Amino acid sequence: MFDLSPQDLRGPILGCGDGPASFNSEATRRGTEVVSVDPMYRFSAEELRSRVTETAPVIAAELRKNADEFVWNHFESVDALVAARLEAMETFLADYPHGRRVGRYVDAALPELPFPDRRFRLALCSHLLFLYSEQLDFGFHVAALKELCRVADEVRVFPLLELGSRRSRHLDSATDALRSDGIDTRIVRVKYEFQKGGNEMLVVSKEADRAGRHAGPASGRQVAGALCASTGR
Ligand SMILES: C[S@@+](CC[C@H](N)C(=O)[O-])C[C@H]1O[C@@H](n2cnc3c(N)ncnc32)[C@H](O)[C@@H]1O
Repeated sequence: MFDLSPQDLRGPILGCGDGPASFNSEATRRGTEVVSVDPMYRFSAEELRSRVTETAPVIAAELRKNADEFVWNHFESVDALVAARLEAMETFLADYPHGRRVGRYVDAALPELPFPDRRFRLALCSHLLFLYSEQLDFGFHVAALKELCRVADEVRVFPLLELGSRRSRHLDSATDALRSDGIDTRIVRVKYEFQKGGNEMLVVSKEADRAGRHAGPASGRQVAGALCASTGR
C-alpha cells in the first residue's frame, strides 16, 4: 500500500486509523518504532475480538455480492481474505494489551492528535481518509491531512478511491487547499491493488521538509470493514 522501503522502516512511524491490523505488532518485532492511533482502542481486547468476529460473516457476504469490484490476486478468494483478516486480528490482539500499556496503541481520533510537532518521520493512513468521502467532508479531510503533516515529516494515504471505487470527490480540492498552504502533494502508484483502480497513494509533506531532511519515498460499495483485513503495507 505504501511502498515502504528499509529506510522508511527506520521510523518512527504513526499508523493512523490502524484498527485491528497487525502492522504495529509486526513492525515492532522488526525493531521499528510504531505508534497506532484509533478511536477503537478505547475498547478491551475481548471487546475488539467480538466486534471483528461478529462482522466477519457480514463482510464476507457483501464481498461476494460485489466481488467484481476487486482484484483477486493478493487475496485469491473471499474466504482467503477473511482468513487473513482474522489472522491479522489475532496477531494484533496478542500484542494489544502490552502495546496499549506502553503507549503503542493510542485511543485518539483525527482531526486532532495528541502528539507534538514532528514527532514522527512518517504517518500512514489506510482505508480511512478518501475512502469515507461521503461520511467525512472536505473540511475534515483538509484538517486531518494538515494535522498529520504537523506530527509527521511525511504523510502517505492509501487508497485514493472512495466507497464504490470512484476517485474520491475530495482529492483534488483537498490537495489544492494543502498546496495553497505550502504543503506539497504527489500521487504515487504502488504495487498493491485490491479495489480495482485503487493502486495509488497520496504523499504529503511540507515542501521545506521534503527538500531538506528527506528525499521522499524510495521509489517511486464494498464493505469498509473488509479492508481492515489488509496487512500488506
Ligand atoms: C476500514 S478501517 C481501516 C483499518 C486499517 N487502516 C486497514 O487498512 O486495514 C478504518 C479505521 O479507521 C478508524 N477511524 C474512524 N474514524 C477515525 C478518526 N477520526 N481518526 C482515526 N481513526 C479513525 C476506525 O476505527 C477503523 O479502525
